Amino acid sequence: MSRYRTLAITTLSIFVLLTAYLYKIHIAHPMTPPVPADNDMSARHAIIVGSGLAGLSAASQLLSHRVPVILLERAAKPGGNSIKASSGINGAPTAYQPATEPLDAFYLDTVRSAGHAMKTLTAHREGLIDTLTEYSASAIEWLANEKSVDLSKVAQLGGHSYARTHRGKGQTPPGFAIVSALLKEMKENPLADLRTSCSVTKVLRSSQLVTGVEYACEDGQKKELHGPVIFASGGFGGDANGLLAQYRPDLVGYPSTNDPRPGTQPLLTAVGAKLVDMDQVQVHPTGFVDPANPASPLKFLAAEVLRGEGGVLLIDGKRFVNELDTREHVANAITTNPSTSDAPKQWTVQIVLDEGTYSSAKSHVDFYIFKGLMKKTTIAELGSNALESIEQYASAVAGTSVDTFGRTSFANWSLTHPTPDSVVYVGAITPVVHFTMGGVLINQKSEVLQEEHQRIEGLWGAGEVTGGVHGGNRLGGSSLLECVVFGRIAGDQVAGYLKERS
Ligand code: FAD
Ligand code: SIN
Repeated sequence: MSRYRTLAITTLSIFVLLTAYLYKIHIAHPMTPPVPADNDMSARHAIIVGSGLAGLSAASQLLSHRVPVILLERAAKPGGNSIKASSGINGAPTAYQPATEPLDAFYLDTVRSAGHAMKTLTAHREGLIDTLTEYSASAIEWLANEKSVDLSKVAQLGGHSYARTHRGKGQTPPGFAIVSALLKEMKENPLADLRTSCSVTKVLRSSQLVTGVEYACEDGQKKELHGPVIFASGGFGGDANGLLAQYRPDLVGYPSTNDPRPGTQPLLTAVGAKLVDMDQVQVHPTGFVDPANPASPLKFLAAEVLRGEGGVLLIDGKRFVNELDTREHVANAITTNPSTSDAPKQWTVQIVLDEGTYSSAKSHVDFYIFKGLMKKTTIAELGSNALESIEQYASAVAGTSVDTFGRTSFANWSLTHPTPDSVVYVGAITPVVHFTMGGVLINQKSEVLQEEHQRIEGLWGAGEVTGGVHGGNRLGGSSLLECVVFGRIAGDQVAGYLKERS
């Protein structure tokens, strides 16, 4: 008996020791290269500045190459403006689109939207737009198939000739769905090191090569981190008194959808980066005026999908524009009227949805009603001209007349015989500073360029911090797309760069 007991105890001990050993090497210390020390000049890790969609897409791609990533984020919480995105991400051709579009339609829409800006740097811009649109289908596939993000609902936004803006069918807004999927992946990967409340204060350059960044976290201590750098630090729409005032003084006083934060382009011009289109700032036509706080300079966005699914805009009860024209055009159609407030600079416009439009944008509208930004009412409550305007629109939807403003896509508007008692959903909106098209010039490899278009070795850029992709007007849904496309390219490029030097 005692021999058997000794054998059993010995076997058990060996099993426990072996388990502990395996745990130590596989779990506590996974069999992956450790993230090198911050001051290691021969670093094998990549540095990413900004944890919005551009930064996270770059990180995900680097991790797929098993390259360690250190991601520095100035805010206490990751996600940037990307996490707020509400209408969706463009892609064509995809399996989710209701209609097959010609292969070059998205490219041509983007060039048309970019407008006069295409007259300068023409070939360069065409290359960037080609990359953006060419890789748009694989961006959607990547998110849907590899990251399990639901993108199966598609809407047609302003300036698009086909429905190609993808979001999920459920309640979760697209920005949140995409960002949280990539963040989860990062948090689960031992090669990823996300440092929040850490602000990059300088790009380090020795001779012709970017060698890393200087940064400071909550304790304010300046530290250096060495390695190739991907800048994904977002736009300057929230830098009201800084870059925005410098490049677009006429927009000072406009409310914005962007939280206040300084722009980061100066960190990059300090190492020779070329800026383009800095005066090209997108004014989005529909930011909600919150009845509880109408003077707030920070506005909640009335997602373009409300118009895309059929909604209309009224001033004094009358339609005044094709609501699905480009943002630039729709915003201009509002701002040619006298403003109704100067601080902040605001106009009084209504966004109106019928029951059909409501049903297809239900999760958005229910949320806006919950926030007190929209209400359910009747046409009679919209003022004296509204019934006639809505009757004309309904007639165009039914095909019995041509729309006065040239609108041809009415999506899910279903109110065919409007009466004063017809139910509608309404909110007050005003134009808002939303997106900055300008930034540091990149090429199709996401390399940051200098004045003469040579690359700055060791430095890549992706997302809203860059310029040149959208020209004078960005199409709705194309920012999330540029983050994924150019973020992933940057990740691949940096992985190759590190491999070449290993
Ligand atoms: P961001 O997501 O803004 O991330 C940049 C990050 O960098 C931030 O977290 C910031 O804190 C950090 N950072 C900045 N400077 C530093 C520094 N010095 N050191 C460290 N970190 C730094 N686009 C679409 O395509 N579809 C949509 O439906 C859509 N909806 C939108 C809704 C709203 C309300 C807003 C505001 C924008 C929307 N956009 C949409 C635009 C789009 O969300 C943004 O343009 C895009 O997400 C920008 O992504 P990014 O990764 O470049 O920057
Ligand atoms: C929106 O929902 O209107 C924003 C979409 C975008 O900025 O692309």
